[in-house]
Amino acid sequence: MKAPAAHLAHHFDDIQGMLRSGYGWLQDSRFWLLTIRDGKETAARAWLAKFVESGVVANAEEVGKSRTHPIAKAAAIAFSFSGLAKLGCVEDTLHPFPTPFRSGMGSDARALLLRDNPRAWRWSDVDGDSGDAVHVLIAEWTERDVGPIISRPDETIFSAIQVDNDPCSFQKLEGDNEEKLREAFGFRDGLAQPVIKGLKQDDSFRPRRSEKDKKQADTLYDDSVVQPGEFILGYRNEYDELTYCPDVVGWRQSGLANHHGGRFALNGSYLAVRQIEQDVEAFSAFRQANGQDICNKLMGRQDNGWPLAWKYDPSNPKTDSELDAFRYRVDDANGFTCPKGAHIRRVNPRDTLGVDIESSIKSTKLHRLLRRGRPYREDSNGETRKGIFFIACNADLERQFEFVQQRWARNPSFVNLHADDPFVGSSDPQTFPKALSLPGLPSGGEVSLANFTTTLGGGYFFLPGLAALKFIVGEEGATKFATSEVAEAAAP
Ligand code: HEM
Repeated sequence: MKAPAAHLAHHFDDIQGMLRSGYGWLQDSRFWLLTIRDGKETAARAWLAKFVESGVVANAEEVGKSRTHPIAKAAAIAFSFSGLAKLGCVEDTLHPFPTPFRSGMGSDARALLLRDNPRAWRWSDVDGDSGDAVHVLIAEWTERDVGPIISRPDETIFSAIQVDNDPCSFQKLEGDNEEKLREAFGFRDGLAQPVIKGLKQDDSFRPRRSEKDKKQADTLYDDSVVQPGEFILGYRNEYDELTYCPDVVGWRQSGLANHHGGRFALNGSYLAVRQIEQDVEAFSAFRQANGQDICNKLMGRQDNGWPLAWKYDPSNPKTDSELDAFRYRVDDANGFTCPKGAHIRRVNPRDTLGVDIESSIKSTKLHRLLRRGRPYREDSNGETRKGIFFIACNADLERQFEFVQQRWARNPSFVNLHADDPFVGSSDPQTFPKALSLPGLPSGGEVSLANFTTTLGGGYFFLPGLAALKFIVGEEGATKFATSEVAEAAAP
């Protein structure tokens, strides 16, 4: 008999709100990467506890009400493996954290796998050439003009890297009825997202034009509906299994566990975070030389977000979900319209990789990412630099983020091509593609590419449920972990 999953709807108050919403109406964002100074663990716990007590870390229940009662600000908190250890959390030996998270994105093992060069990074989740490991990630989203939630964390406790949003990233261009998010190369972003079954139901997608349209729309809507266990730990995933939940020493006895009765990681998720700088000048020069149509082919969408195969019609505006309702296989199996190597076709090949449409959709559902990053902007020494602070939520870092990055995006022989994704951020010029095949070009040919993006930093973070968050930052942690229990638990 199958083990019963927790009832998702009963846990909304414990699930961090960012799993339910990307807070599109909160246009300002700020990300803090905090390293706890040695000897300041207790003070860090107290500072974080105060932050949590202020009620600003939104949960999925509050976010669910945001259609009628929009919140003006929201925050999320996540911890690297070294951050959890620094704050005193000790893994339960029977239920340890999975290897990618334990080792960290900046570790040699992960760098090899992802073809990264963390030695050149500004920050990472492990101690090393880029400095001391980042322990805590705080994300904040606020309405325009509300002002930041944190203006500066206590410098005696933390060393901090602050990444602010690009205020120009929400723009209203011709044909738009409202401001839309655009990344630094000018493309609309944040359109294609998985719909977590039972957590998000976006009815705006279902256009009711004709019965035929409705049928097709509903089928395509189901393409993006994914089991909750793909993103939230402890629930059924696309294999119909309960997603593995790690545990920590002392959690069961803490009293906080009784609230939901599961292991420490229940209702949590993992974040794959990468700060990717975009060379806007190089991309503009490329656009100048090759035209917008070729740029669209690299991305796999028109810059206004419409799929490449659709004729843009400003008199017939589409919702974001409608703009996600397309497949490749029937009309564009060979990639004449959207090249197989285009960014969005690599990172989600939709209905193309299996023997038929159904098996393809089923297998791509094993590799979906819930994207919660934002464009950022940095002004220093009279110079402006832009990029994406990329955040992908997933329940299985190996099967989701690492698979997409390594096997699809940065795999030079993906579907018999011989280049990797021009956008995902190489930090190694040796492996960067010099050309991208575009089967749709009359020359049948290739365009030369510059190195458009560079990864500046990265890390894996655990996004705990709210009760687990209280445990991590709570006082009981401080006393509990000072006991011999720690030594016992840490013993091999
Ligand atoms: C600076 C770097 C990047 C840029 C400029 C960029 C830009 C975009 C844009 C414009 C879209 C289309 C809008 C949409 O469908 O929402 C998109 C989609 C997407 N991107 Fe990226 N992206 C970047 C890095 C990455 C990385 C590192 C990954 C993961 C390894 C990634 C994964 C995705 C996914 C999964 C989609 C949705 C595709 C779909 O379902 O059709 N992106 N990106």
